Amino acid sequence: LASIEVDVSSLQPGMSLTAKWRGKPVFIRNRTEKEVEEAKAVQLSDLKDPVARNANIAADAQATDIDRSAGEGKENWIVMIGSCTHLGCVPLGQAGDFGGWFCPCHGSHYDTAGRIRKGPAPMNLAVPSFAFTSDTVIKIG
Ligand code: FES
Repeated sequence: LASIEVDVSSLQPGMSLTAKWRGKPVFIRNRTEKEVEEAKAVQLSDLKDPVARNANIAADAQATDIDRSAGEGKENWIVMIGSCTHLGCVPLGQAGDFGGWFCPCHGSHYDTAGRIRKGPAPMNLAVPSFAFTSDTVIKIG
């Protein structure tokens, strides 16, 4: 299937689900205010990969929290391919030194915006093309 629709109505803040799209896991998380604030507080100069890696916006957009998220008004939502940018393992949620995702294969730590902060992975977790088709449904692809 080229695209899928995912019902996210059951995701309260702090909850996530993993969908499957094109054979890969896709993490969808309704972030808490605290997680968003933590991600926003990070300086771009502290990022290993300063590029947003978000298929929905310009290829050279910076990895600010808003440009990693679903955007204005929906900044709590983050949608990412669940494949570590090192060698493709599936990272674990709410783990690691930055409270985001942690890849146990070789120790890559991602923050609450899915940006690589420590470890061998070279890039932020990729944001696939997606859109909200209603307040509670996300179309991926
Ligand atoms: Fe994730 Fe190597 S595959 S750290």
